[in-house]
Amino acid sequence: MKTIDIIHDEHRALAAVLQALRFVVNEIRSGKLKADFRLLTAMVDYITQVPEKVHHPKEDNYLFPKLRSRSKQAAELIDILEGQHVAGYRMTVELLQALLHYQSVGAAGFSAFDTLVQQYLDFNWQHLNQEETELLPLAREALSEEDWAGIDAEFSANFDPYAGAEGEFKELFGRIVNMTPAPYGLGPAG
Ligand SMILES: [Fe+2]
Ligand SMILES: [Fe+2]
Repeated sequence: MKTIDIIHDEHRALAAVLQALRFVVNEIRSGKLKADFRLLTAMVDYITQVPEKVHHPKEDNYLFPKLRSRSKQAAELIDILEGQHVAGYRMTVELLQALLHYQSVGAAGFSAFDTLVQQYLDFNWQHLNQEETELLPLAREALSEEDWAGIDAEFSANFDPYAGAEGEFKELFGRIVNMTPAPYGLGPAG
């Protein structure tokens, strides 16, 4: 199933950025790294835009509705996951505001940003995990070959996990990797 591969790929790309964000924020908290706002902004922009524009629409519009119609158990889980998509986007908007505040007031703004980052990381690991360990197994069980063919076609039609319509997310992902200090990225260690 192409759909499952694509979901795994997109989750991996998002997880890479989340791990890099966790690393950078931990290093700032422990005084080992000075805040690089170009990097932090690129990271927060990525985790705001890519789920909302590239990843969630495919889940919300193709996989979820088909699976909802095939399994009552999955329907209950899908209600929860759809709610998390909305809540997660709201959290990223708050994260962006906290980052802007941190950038404008300096060190005094770090702890509020840090708190939101930790909340968002916990929330998102849990969401990705629930999709991988609960949703996808139910989907494998409940969907027919014909169902998968239809969903695969839709997923492949707008498939490019990193690029986005204008290629903008591919460039953004590359920039994040280049700016993140080693060992999580290719930048010089802090
Ligand atoms: Fe999701
Ligand atoms: Fe997902």
